[in-house]
Amino acid sequence: MSILALTCAGSIFLLYLLSSVSMVMSQTFPYSHCPRGSNNTASTKFRDNLDNLFNGKLYDERGNSLSYNTTDGEIPDRVYSNYICRFDFSPETCRNCVSNATKNIVQQCNGTQEAVLWYPTCMVRYSYRNFFSTLELVPIIYAWNAGNITRPAQFAMILNQTFNDLIERAPLNPSKYATHEGIISDFERLYSLAQCTEDLSTEDCGACLKAAFDRVTADNVQGKQGGRVLIPSCFVRYELFRFYGDPYVGSPGPISQPDAKLYSLDQKARKKQKQR
Ligand SMILES: *[C@@H]1O[C@H](CO)[C@@H](O)[C@H](O)[C@H]1NC(C)=O
Ligand SMILES: *[C@@H]1O[C@H](CO)[C@@H](O)[C@H](O)[C@H]1NC(C)=O
Ligand SMILES: *[C@@H]1O[C@H](CO)[C@@H](O)[C@H](O)[C@H]1NC(C)=O
Ligand SMILES: *[C@@H]1O[C@H](CO)[C@@H](O)[C@H](O)[C@H]1NC(C)=O
Ligand SMILES: *[C@@H]1O[C@H](CO)[C@@H](O)[C@H](O)[C@H]1NC(C)=O
Ligand SMILES: *[C@@H]1O[C@H](CO)[C@@H](O)[C@H](O)[C@H]1NC(C)=O
Repeated sequence: MSILALTCAGSIFLLYLLSSVSMVMSQTFPYSHCPRGSNNTASTKFRDNLDNLFNGKLYDERGNSLSYNTTDGEIPDRVYSNYICRFDFSPETCRNCVSNATKNIVQQCNGTQEAVLWYPTCMVRYSYRNFFSTLELVPIIYAWNAGNITRPAQFAMILNQTFNDLIERAPLNPSKYATHEGIISDFERLYSLAQCTEDLSTEDCGACLKAAFDRVTADNVQGKQGGRVLIPSCFVRYELFRFYGDPYVGSPGPISQPDAKLYSLDQKARKKQKQR
């Protein structure tokens, strides 16, 4: 499989070559994943349940929580769903994002029985199978900052130290996130964030972040100064600027930093076997 990404006038075009099949996709946030096919077609009852869940339960029960999981309906049409927001956002911003994400996922993935969608600040997911407390590493979406770094070997070392630390600390935090400030020089820092869904075990959270790091190192040869990895069970981001704020404590949320650079996108829908 080979992947080529070009950026053009602010939008991202992805040329995706998979075996002999090739297709061109234009994609930016939100990123959604809901492969079409007969095995991903929802029943009418499932769709009703999903509608209920997005218009009711996922909204009503969650309170001020930055992540939540719930179900609607009875087997075999039961819907399992969760969302997660970045640790530093206010409940209001989180609600806003989740509300956008549920609308968007229903549009982009209409009629599927399994889907996941990411905004920069939140992720929403639903499925016909119970994925709660289950490590899910498919798909892995990697997007990198177009800016280059000057000293790749040093940068790789700092990334390695960063992830060693994040993989150690995030899983042990009850809120399942950690940030890290790596020192590049007197005036340069590498700011990183890792967060898992809260229902994951310590081990699974660590495994997810390790998978994210493997994805980063696979592409770091290109010497990019920032990147994001989006996985259903966790996400990470690293940049040369402080893109995250402090945990929300009841005051107005952080002023969201505009993304400094254009992002290129590489989606690797790994053909790993899925648990059922
Ligand atoms: C549907 O089946 C295809 C081929 O067997 C497989 O590659 C794909 O992952 C399946 N999709 C789902 C949602 O199970
Ligand atoms: C959310 O997930 C946890 C962990 O698997 C589970 O114990 C809990 O019952 C789930 N919540 C709902 C409302 O299904
Ligand atoms: C949600 O959508 C509204 C309207 O399109 C937009 O103004 C707002 O910025 C979005 N919020 C998030 C968190 O994406
Ligand atoms: C989903 O598709 C159905 C027809 O298959 C259509 O009636 C409905 O309006 C669509 N919903 C959205 C949100 O696009
Ligand atoms: C980064 O380096 C690559 C390869 O040397 C080059 O093609 C690209 O234009 C550079 N990007 C920036 C933003 O300078
Ligand atoms: C960093 O490098 C060391 C030595 O090569 C390796 O043992 C370790 O697993 C790496 N860290 C991560 C997070 O992969």
